[in-house]
Amino acid sequence: MASVAHRRPAKESFQIHEDARTDEISDLDESTERHTQRAEEDEGAYDDPLAGEEIEEGDNEENHDDEDAETESSDDDEHIDLSVREDMEKLNNTFPNFKDNYRLIKRIGEGTFSTVYKAEDIRYHHYHNHWDLDAKECQWTPPPLGVASNSRSNSQSRHTRRRPKFVAIKKIYVTSSPSRIFNELELLHDLRDSHSVCPLVTAFRQSDQVVAILPYFRHQDFRKYYPNMTVMDMRIYFRSLFTALAAVHAQGIIHRDIKPTNFLYDPEKKRGVLVDFGLAEREGIDNKPCLCHEDPQVRRQRLKQSVAFTSAHAGPQPGYPKNDTRPSRRANRAGTRGFRAPEVLFKCTEQTTKIDVWSAGVILLTILCRRFPFFNSADDVEAMIEIATIFGSRRMKQAGQLHGCMFDTNIPTIGAAGFSFEKIMLWSTCRSDPSNKDAAKGQGQLTDQEKGALEFLRLCMELDPSKRVSAEDALRHPFLSLDGDEEPEGEGEEDDVMMV
Ligand SMILES: Nc1ncnc2c1ncn2[C@@H]1O[C@H](COP(=O)(O)OP(=O)(O)OP(=O)(O)O)[C@@H](O)[C@H]1O
Ligand SMILES: [Mg+2]
Repeated sequence: MASVAHRRPAKESFQIHEDARTDEISDLDESTERHTQRAEEDEGAYDDPLAGEEIEEGDNEENHDDEDAETESSDDDEHIDLSVREDMEKLNNTFPNFKDNYRLIKRIGEGTFSTVYKAEDIRYHHYHNHWDLDAKECQWTPPPLGVASNSRSNSQSRHTRRRPKFVAIKKIYVTSSPSRIFNELELLHDLRDSHSVCPLVTAFRQSDQVVAILPYFRHQDFRKYYPNMTVMDMRIYFRSLFTALAAVHAQGIIHRDIKPTNFLYDPEKKRGVLVDFGLAEREGIDNKPCLCHEDPQVRRQRLKQSVAFTSAHAGPQPGYPKNDTRPSRRANRAGTRGFRAPEVLFKCTEQTTKIDVWSAGVILLTILCRRFPFFNSADDVEAMIEIATIFGSRRMKQAGQLHGCMFDTNIPTIGAAGFSFEKIMLWSTCRSDPSNKDAAKGQGQLTDQEKGALEFLRLCMELDPSKRVSAEDALRHPFLSLDGDEEPEGEGEEDDVMMV
């Protein structure tokens, strides 16, 4: 069994090494603990916004496993599908020493690239576990309050009893390419000390099967909590998400798949972690020059030489060349439909970390409008139509031209000016409807708090990535700063549409 070691000195490069099995250490005394660390992995690439949400055993409604060890036994009592049992058995058989390290409990997620199981980390206490957020929180114990000696010994025995510790085991489908798996492991390794990013504990490989071990993070299903989130809840949620994004982006890494199922959030603890770096990549890798990084004048010049421009000025009937000799455009489109930024749809070849900010904006729009999924397109063209309906054809044309693309449509529902987020929010929450009781009572208006949220949303869902707020700046915005005493930021000027 090969494994990936984690949490070594920062300068040390990431490498997979043989993990010769060491026999159990029976002495659990802290002083004899090995200082070995473990790390994890995963992989991804797909398209369904709801993917990964069909959680087999309702695990997201997890009981408070960290609070009380006894509640954990209930996990074992849950009915587990026969096929899941068989899969867990297979996993145990694939990795000969697995059973000594992990007790598989149940399946908690099934994505496009992996199946995720919850397991007890049997040998947790044999390792240093810097990744354990809960352990860090529990380091402080209240001072004794002069209680009777027998009650003190009771409390001591309570504290010395070890609670089971849980991990999420991500079994990556063997169809994933080795380079993709390695990429994810490597990025997670680089992000090991990043705030709000679920760290890699360790990873194992047996032949073509790779599993990543992650700390198990208790969270709730987004669909359960988003309909009731207050604006303050949203601010806390997005502070946590943008903290993760800022940390990831500071390392020059683009996550590429920001969506609710990849941000595990616990509304009670008001804490979230970013998972699933299966599609993540380093900014700038494989980039080819895109017009969006050119000077506006150069862009204008180049657009004048374009086939679309020439065709539009050739006669009354614009069209496509019969023999189109232009090379097809290739760009990374990885991500989930409904969450792809406009520059991804326009096949920008110099994508940046700002694509994650757009996707985070889509989550905010979803929560504010109480509609999930908010966008529901079958393909990229439909996705463009959805975005154009909101932003209007005029701004969509500008957005396309930034990347050397011509956007045109004769769909009657797409107006030139589009609609404001205010209108969309009022419509989708049925507050602009006079037959709605609340609207009739004069409550069909947005509150100041909601207006503040929309102002932040506009910064995240800015069509031009160079004008879109960065995760780092977003954290300084009053919506996320949580002290509410800063001035809102102004909106940038818009470029003129170059009519072709
Ligand atoms: N550390 C964790 N703690 C608890 N649950 C987890 C953890 N990691 C993953 N999960 C669960 O497993 C699901 C799938 O995980 P992940 O997104 O990493 O896999 P994936 O195969 O890339 O999925 P998808 O294709 O849906 O994005 C998550 O949405 C979550 O419910
Ligand atoms: Mg996922």
